[in-house]
Amino acid sequence: MKLLTVVMLFAPMALALHSGGLAPWRPLNDNNSVPSFGLGTWLGFSDKGRAEPKGHEVEDAVVWAIDAGYRHIDTAHIYNTETQVGRAIKKKIGDGTVKREDLFVTTKLWNDAHAREAVEPALRRSLQKLGLDYIDLYLIHWPVGTHANNTFDDVDYLDTWQAMTAVRDKGLTRSVGVSNFNQKQLERLAQASNVKPAMLQVELNLNLQQPALLAYCRAQGIQVTGYTPFGSLFPSKATPDAPPPRVDDPSLVAIAGKYNKTVPQIALRYLWELGVTPIPKSVTRSRVEQNIQIFDFELSAEERQKMASFDRGYRTIDVKWWRDSPHYPFEKN
Ligand SMILES: NC(=O)c1ccc[n+]([C@@H]2O[C@H](COP(=O)([O-])OP(=O)(O)OC[C@H]3O[C@@H](n4cnc5c(N)ncnc54)[C@H](OP(=O)(O)O)[C@@H]3O)[C@@H](O)[C@H]2O)c1
Repeated sequence: MKLLTVVMLFAPMALALHSGGLAPWRPLNDNNSVPSFGLGTWLGFSDKGRAEPKGHEVEDAVVWAIDAGYRHIDTAHIYNTETQVGRAIKKKIGDGTVKREDLFVTTKLWNDAHAREAVEPALRRSLQKLGLDYIDLYLIHWPVGTHANNTFDDVDYLDTWQAMTAVRDKGLTRSVGVSNFNQKQLERLAQASNVKPAMLQVELNLNLQQPALLAYCRAQGIQVTGYTPFGSLFPSKATPDAPPPRVDDPSLVAIAGKYNKTVPQIALRYLWELGVTPIPKSVTRSRVEQNIQIFDFELSAEERQKMASFDRGYRTIDVKWWRDSPHYPFEKN
């Protein structure tokens, strides 16, 4: 039998394994696949630092999300939401809504565990909190290493990456990838290792569209997840220096109206049409349900052009406090 025939025979089976959910699944470069839309679970900052979950708000959001057709959930050690994500998954598998293999769960290695010998124990702690025996994607959260006292750890992320590939080989995660790496750092990784990241997770929204980085990832077969997909759309979230647009921008309101959608929905659809996997966060049921309803319309070329014009290279998350690290990934101006 010719190779092509074999591939064609087995392709529908591979797809069938990942049926369900509202978002189409996209192939990863390691033969796995990822639902092209997910739920974020970082609660942001409060006056005292990291915002902590109130009651079971994250667990509820993940339950609503799975019921609404999400199959991809994004968490991280540092968010302190893994336990609630795990409880929701247990609930939805328990009530028969989904099977474990229908879900795609991402978590991330924090900066204080970049040493080679620290990676597997960190992932095992995350698995324990999630109540899972494997995750789908493990990401190096930042290229910057830090010690618990916030001084820089000069461990090279190339060493961390070797340990990441080792936990993948052990089956603790199906895929490995990186977050907040710039193109130079991705190229350095590619030169040093024969395991490519399956995913790059970076900030992507109307103010920060990163066309060059997206083109590089497309050429390299690296999928891209877009975090903070709303950027500065909501006045309550926008800092005074944040460029437009806001959610009431007349041109966006007009595009949304044409499709009977909301401005947040067309912002998410735009990212999705760029090939990005958006992971909006919400702990509000109506918003969780609304955000994923973006697969029944398509923007016109003119509308995409209008939305492209909002790109200002403006970062919502610039982590300036790490700018003296040798591995700081962003522009320093
Ligand atoms: N890798 C990284 O370094 C990194 C960095 C940042 C974020 N992330 C990931 O990306 C996820 C998303 O990013 P994000 O949380 O920074 O920001 P985001 O998803 O762009 O925005 C979240 C905010 O938007 C509100 N919201 C959501 N849907 C809405 C809607 N339809 N209408 C009005 N308001 C709406 C939410 O409010 P309510 O919750 O009150 O509804 C919340 O205040 C995170 O949760 C996290 O999983 C990763």
